Amino acid sequence: MDKIDIEKIRNDFPILKNKINDETLIYLDNAATLQMPKDVLTACDNFYHDAYSNVHRSSHTLAIKATQIYETVRKKVQKFINAADTSEIIFTSGCTASLNLVALSWGESFISAGDEIVITAMEHHSNLIPWQQLALRKKAKLKFIELTPDGRLDMNDAVQKITSKTKLVAAVHVSNVLGVINPIKKLASLAHKVGAIMVVDGAQAAGHIPIDVQQLEADFYAFSGHKMLAPTGVGVLYGRKYLLEKMTPVMYGGEMIEHVSRFTSSWAEIPFKFEAGTPNIAGVRGLGAAIDYLNKISFKMITEYEQELTDYALNALKKITALTIYGPLTSKERLPIFSFNLDKIHAHDLATILDAEGVEVRAGHHCAEPLMTDLGVIATVRASLYIYNTEKDIDILVEAIEKARNFFNHGN
Ligand code: ALA
Repeated sequence: MDKIDIEKIRNDFPILKNKINDETLIYLDNAATLQMPKDVLTACDNFYHDAYSNVHRSSHTLAIKATQIYETVRKKVQKFINAADTSEIIFTSGCTASLNLVALSWGESFISAGDEIVITAMEHHSNLIPWQQLALRKKAKLKFIELTPDGRLDMNDAVQKITSKTKLVAAVHVSNVLGVINPIKKLASLAHKVGAIMVVDGAQAAGHIPIDVQQLEADFYAFSGHKMLAPTGVGVLYGRKYLLEKMTPVMYGGEMIEHVSRFTSSWAEIPFKFEAGTPNIAGVRGLGAAIDYLNKISFKMITEYEQELTDYALNALKKITALTIYGPLTSKERLPIFSFNLDKIHAHDLATILDAEGVEVRAGHHCAEPLMTDLGVIATVRASLYIYNTEKDIDILVEAIEKARNFFNHGN
């Protein structure tokens, strides 16, 4: 396939045929959750029909089948992000759980009073609060790498902020508000030069750009299934083997132990010591199907097409004079996530008008309140696109914004 076949792709996503408020559904809330293709829906359904059982416990045929499926997906994830070993792949309930695991385990053991934790000014709460609370508990210092006026990470500031006191650098790979792709490898090099570890929130990156944790030099890389075509409730934490081996579990219970007596316990090997309780096995099956689907389309096609959408959307949105767009106005190192406000119209009011036109966007602080403060707003509207969106969807968004503007200007 030389060029992405959008009609074929759209047919893979049954929900896109739905009507919203009697209008064709234009789904532009992809940064919140991607829709699932038939392949993923069928894989989960088949799992429930043919292989549903628990994993790593019973020895009957169905349980063996479920365990094989689960572990096959672990291998798939390893290849998907180019991890060195399957033991470095921990299944979690999502990106938030993955990041909290690092803060509660690695952070509790290796951050001390006076240490510095460096994050960025564009973090989602999931990659901010775990470090903020860790810093408060440990009397460590939390520092922020600031942004350039056009909404990119200020790498000169990164050089200043990452010092010999830094023990951990955490950054979002792709901002859920600004759409920028951050230079993770450069940050990781700065972190490693001072002996710090590099933690990456990859929620908005996985499913959009190829992830190679070794090439990025990430020590931990977290992402969610539901932002890469898989169901909700499943996510991944990648961690370097030598780091995971030094860490203690934060959740205790079934299947994470080696031996338990009345007063002491010892832990299973990685990754199992971090997977207490029955996991989301069907979700993991869906994650495997999502990876297959992404590989079938290929990241080359995905990134090329997302670039086209970004160019087209930026061009169209920039023409609306009353629109303030937050984030870079050029498509370089950027994904099609656009946050904006129209005149003085409240973001939620604008989103409500767009919804009446069938255009589904998110309005609010996008779980990034400190960034909103820096931008001088309390909320924005966010339109975020994926490979099943088209230029026509962008035209409809623009028309709907114009309609909203007329509505509010004329009060009818
Ligand atoms: N983190 C998701 C978003 O940005 C939910 O919308």
